[in-house]
Amino acid sequence: MQALILAGGKGTRLRPLTIHTPKPVVPIVNKPFLNYQIDLLKRAGVKDITLSLSYQPGKIEEIFADGQDYDVRIHYAVEASPLGTGGAYKNAEKYLTETAIVFNGDVLTDMDLARIVAHHKERKAAATVVLVPVENVSAYGVVETDSEGRVQRFVEKPKPGETTSNTINAGCYILEPHILNYVPAGETYSFEYQIFPSILKAGEPFYSYIWNDYWLDIGKPQSYLQANYDLINDKLPVFPVYRHNPQFGNSEDAPKIDYVSVVDPSCTIKPGVEIINSVIGPNCIIEEKARIENSVVWAASRIGKEAVICNSIIGKSGIIGKSSVVDGAILGDKSSLTDYTII
Ligand code: GDD
Ligand code: MG
Repeated sequence: MQALILAGGKGTRLRPLTIHTPKPVVPIVNKPFLNYQIDLLKRAGVKDITLSLSYQPGKIEEIFADGQDYDVRIHYAVEASPLGTGGAYKNAEKYLTETAIVFNGDVLTDMDLARIVAHHKERKAAATVVLVPVENVSAYGVVETDSEGRVQRFVEKPKPGETTSNTINAGCYILEPHILNYVPAGETYSFEYQIFPSILKAGEPFYSYIWNDYWLDIGKPQSYLQANYDLINDKLPVFPVYRHNPQFGNSEDAPKIDYVSVVDPSCTIKPGVEIINSVIGPNCIIEEKARIENSVVWAASRIGKEAVICNSIIGKSGIIGKSSVVDGAILGDKSSLTDYTII
């Protein structure tokens, strides 16, 4: 078994966070996102993982190198300019010689990949697409199936009334290597608009597998926050969170970090600070009586005295002035707010 992770998108919907940090490695509970997908693949016994990159590839290669630190073998297929999801798949052809798991590089899930691959093999499928039911399908690719789970139709980003199905493409496929033959080399191509319709037309055995447990596309600010909340609140038992939070005494003005929050041990947390349902990255300084709630603060940020941060994401090396109130904001790296700002 081999795997390909499509991780070359620009992460436009997560800007400004993705200006200096490509989406596949945005920190989720202080770990680059792809760690979670690599872990899931490892659980299914997959050790050969190709990362398909295009946007800021160096930053991703620097983190994962040859995969040795993660006990996997990582290969890279880099596009000079983005070739779309299908073109990226073709571009990784030399690493895809066996049945492969293909993942969109922005999906947080606890899928049982071994079970899904077994389902694919039992049906002698050429392709299997994992589906998840969602309430609002408009931001996804809808997949219509028959009563035996055979794929009938794809409707990418449907307009109202275009489909009645509520099962969407979860961004995870099991593909036999000959599916590569449906893709022209060196061209911009799409799984969703081109490869899938072609293999349907050709009458290939194309099946679906419905995943009813956890699934989230982290590619929008609200879902990025949600991914952090869900992990620290133990909604994904396959990814237990290990806390090494700084410890304080019981004095009255000792900082209070609630049970779920994750604070990197390198942080300086001053007296009277309160941290609730939040994640604080390495080397942050949180000044006296600041309160951080339902938020994610990236590395090396300084939160001023008595500042309040709620429902927000603060990029790397942010400076939040004293007594500021930041609610529902997404601040890019090196943002600086003067004292008493209200946003
Ligand atoms: N290498 C490479 N090159 N990767 C790409 C490219 C490219 O040109 N374009 C996109 N990707 C990667 C992105 O980095 C992302 O991980 C994945 O492919 C999917 O792209 P998105 O831009 O996040 O697509 P989406 O979320 O709008 O829709 C896709 O995912 C949905 C599930 O989250 C589609 O596959 C939908 O059908 C699906 O429902
Ligand atoms: Mg996406």
